[in-house]
Amino acid sequence: SEVADLRAALLAWYDVHARTLPWRTPPGAEVRTDPYRVWLSEVMLQQTTVPHAAPYFERFTTRWPTVTDLAAVEDADLMAAWAGLGYYARARNLLACARAVANDHGGVFPDTEAALLALPGVGAYTAAAVAAIAFDRAANVVDGNVERVVARLFAVETPVPAARPELKRLAAILVADDRPGDWAQALMDLGSGVCRPKSPLCLMCPISQWCAGRATGEPERYPLKTKK
Ligand code: ADE
Repeated sequence: SEVADLRAALLAWYDVHARTLPWRTPPGAEVRTDPYRVWLSEVMLQQTTVPHAAPYFERFTTRWPTVTDLAAVEDADLMAAWAGLGYYARARNLLACARAVANDHGGVFPDTEAALLALPGVGAYTAAAVAAIAFDRAANVVDGNVERVVARLFAVETPVPAARPELKRLAAILVADDRPGDWAQALMDLGSGVCRPKSPLCLMCPISQWCAGRATGEPERYPLKTKK
């Protein structure tokens, strides 16, 4: 099918072009990333860019190698380590979640999207990302990068933010049980490196043949934005 061919093309591209990131295991790896590391990286990345988050991630995981270690930290020490990442409510949620995993789950992250969603401070995006990347569950992981890829692929004419539910439904069509963790990260890497907000690199895109946005000749028009 078209979807199967598109999926195969993007996963094959990811096998070659996956970014090497401190919280990532290579594509197709048998050993999956520790859910603690996935969760921590995703919380940091909701706050800031990959280059800015990377040294924080290295410091945190060196100092607190497990979620149980993080759960034991004093609030003030966590806040000091978080300084520069901004939005301190997120750091408070981080600690609340670490303590819930340590105290209520024996230090083991739950392995389903629904159980992850029940953790304090874990929203729909983070639950889906951890379920997919750490546990290889077929979760629909949709961040800003993925919204842009999907808006272009399907040439969605509804502007964001109103289009968000539609973009999520369209992204779900592409999710499957084969390599869901790699799939989620392949979409993110495509969005950040190829399907860029300005000047998308369609000539380098492994799925351009299926892209309705490209076919319009103005892929950079998507996603449309409601005028402020
Ligand atoms: N942005 C948010 N999560 C990410 C991830 N897991 N890999 C790359 N970029 C990301």
